[in-house]
Amino acid sequence: MGLVWREQMSVANNLIDSEHKYLIDQINALETALNTKENHDIVEETLDHLVSYTKTHFDHEETIQRKIRYPQLDEHKLEHKQIMRNLYAIKNELDSILGTDQRDRESDNNDEVTDSELNMILADEEVEHSVTKQDLEPLIALIRSWIIDHVIGSDMKLKAYLIKRPVDFV
Ligand SMILES: [Fe+2]
Ligand SMILES: [Fe+2]
Repeated sequence: MGLVWREQMSVANNLIDSEHKYLIDQINALETALNTKENHDIVEETLDHLVSYTKTHFDHEETIQRKIRYPQLDEHKLEHKQIMRNLYAIKNELDSILGTDQRDRESDNNDEVTDSELNMILADEEVEHSVTKQDLEPLIALIRSWIIDHVIGSDMKLKAYLIKRPVDFV
């Protein structure tokens, strides 16, 4: 059963709410991808998209927080940073499951998976067959909890400030 955005999750801002809905859709898409036969390419593509979309969303949210002079901006930004670090770590973990971890160990920067590395993973049909749904499921459960816990925990605190503004305030 997929996650569903509910009115109680609204932070009283159209942009943030619609981005949260989209994030939830993407988490659901990842879970759906796990259950498809040729899931590895789709899982990788969906995860890649989710990670970059999450970064974009965090940037938007921080811009709004700066504009409303949100008193907990620094704290909130730190949480965003930690989630991004965790998401990049999952991408690296996926590389290691796919047998490409050697390339990552050679790199000092474990925050980033480059496009060329991802392309190599996607091109490597042989190792993809060794990945099972059971390998990926716990990773996706972690992603879901990081994002959803943040949305219903920290993001909800924005509501008290955003409710004083027009819903389309950016
Ligand atoms: Fe958010
Ligand atoms: Fe946030």
